[in-house]
Amino acid sequence: MIVGHGGRESALASRMAEHSELYAFAGHLNPSLVRYARASGGKIQIGDVCDAQAVAEFARANEIDMAMVSADEPLESGVVDALLAQGTRAVGPTRAGAEIEWNKTFARSLLLEVAPEATPLLRVARRAEEVDEAIASFGSTPVVVKPSGLTGGKGVKVMGPHLASHSEARDYALSLLAGDGGGESVLIEEKIVGAEFTIQAISDGRTVVFPNSTYDYPYRFDGDEGPGTGGMGSLSMAEATLPFMSAEHYAQACSIVERVIARLSAEGRRFSGVMNSGFFATASGVQVIEFNARFGDPECMNIMALFDGDWTRVMERICAGELTREDVRLRDEASLVLYLVSPDYALPRGAAAPTPYEFELDVAAMERAGCNVFFSSAVHVADNTYRTVGTSRAVALVTTAPGLREAHARIVELASSVGMLQWRRDVGDERYLQGLSGLVRSA
Ligand code: GLY
Repeated sequence: MIVGHGGRESALASRMAEHSELYAFAGHLNPSLVRYARASGGKIQIGDVCDAQAVAEFARANEIDMAMVSADEPLESGVVDALLAQGTRAVGPTRAGAEIEWNKTFARSLLLEVAPEATPLLRVARRAEEVDEAIASFGSTPVVVKPSGLTGGKGVKVMGPHLASHSEARDYALSLLAGDGGGESVLIEEKIVGAEFTIQAISDGRTVVFPNSTYDYPYRFDGDEGPGTGGMGSLSMAEATLPFMSAEHYAQACSIVERVIARLSAEGRRFSGVMNSGFFATASGVQVIEFNARFGDPECMNIMALFDGDWTRVMERICAGELTREDVRLRDEASLVLYLVSPDYALPRGAAAPTPYEFELDVAAMERAGCNVFFSSAVHVADNTYRTVGTSRAVALVTTAPGLREAHARIVELASSVGMLQWRRDVGDERYLQGLSGLVRSA
C-alpha cells in the first residue's frame, strides 16, 4: 500500500506494482495511482491521508502486507504508528521519528549535539517579546526566518529574495508566532551563502544507504525568481556529487546523516525509510538546512528512475531491520525530473479557489520517447485529457541518460508538447549548475 497522492507516490507506486498487488490510499484519483493499482489487481481508496485510523482500516480491510508512507503530513499524523499498532508492516518513521521534520526546533537542538560544526548560528523565539532580541543578536548579518512546524516547503523566508530588511524579518517572525507557522516557535538563523544539495538517505534505523546527491529547484520561475514551491524539478548526476560540490562535501553530509539517525535510534526513535537531508555546500564545508523524514518530492522520482531492483524487497528489508547496501542498487546515470504546473501554481490567489486547468498529454508517446510520466495534482478527464486539482503541482516528466545534457534535451522536447501548463526552462541546464559553483567559491 502507498499512502499519498503526489508525483513521489506515483513513482513509488510504479516500482511497487512491478512486484505486488498495489493498493493506494490517496486524496484524489491520481491517474498514475489508478493505473498502477488497477494493472496490478489492487485498488485505490479516496480519503484523508492524515486520518491515521481510516488508513489503518483500509489496510486491515484489504489485508495489506506492507505500507510505504513517505509524505510529511501523514507521518506527523501518526499513520505509521496506527499501522504498526495493528500489525501492518510499514516503511516510514513513527510520529516520534518524524519529529526531526515536523519540529525544526527539535531538529536543530539534536543537530547542535551531533554536528555543531554544520549548524548555522540560530535563535529560537517562542514568544513575540523574544523576537526583537533574537533578530538584534545577529547585528547586520542577514537572517532566515523559519516556522518550526510543517508548511509544505513554503514557509521559510530569506533576507534578500524574500525579506528586504531585519525589520521585515521581524514582522514575518511575529506573524508566524501569531498563528501562521504550523508550530509553537520560530527559528531565526544566519543566512548561509552556498549552493544547496540534498541526499535521500535510505535506512532501517541502523544501516544507512546513500544514493548520489540530488538538486531541487525550489523557486517558481527561471533564474530562481518568484515564490518558493515544493520543487519545480530535480536532478542527479552519474556520480555521487553535483558539479558545484567536492567529494568532501558529500562525505561530510553522509557522516552527519549517519550521526542523526544513530542519535534518533539511541533515543528510542528508530528511524525507518528515507531521510531527505538538505545541505549548503560552502567554501568551508557543509551546513545543514533541514531534515525531512521522507523522500523529497520531486527527488524521490530521481531515485526511483535509477533504482535497479525490487523496491518491495527493499521495503521488506527495512521492515525486518536487515537493510544492506547491496539491496539498493542504482544505475550510474544522470536523472532529471521536471514538474509541469498550472499557471497559478504557488502564486497569490487571495481567498479565490484554485482554477482547474485542462491539459493534453499522451502518456504512451512520452514513454516510447524514454520518459516516465507521474501525475500529482491532476485527474483524468477523457482519452489524453487531464485536469488540475487543488493547489499543488500537476504532473512530472522523468528521464535518465548517461549524461545530463541528453536528459535535458529529451525532457525539454517532451515538455514543449504539453499545452497550458508551465515549467522552468533551466531545470537540468548545465549553465545554471555552473552558476552555483560561483556561489560555493564566494561563500
Ligand atoms: N523537494 C522538497 C521537499 O520534498 O520537501
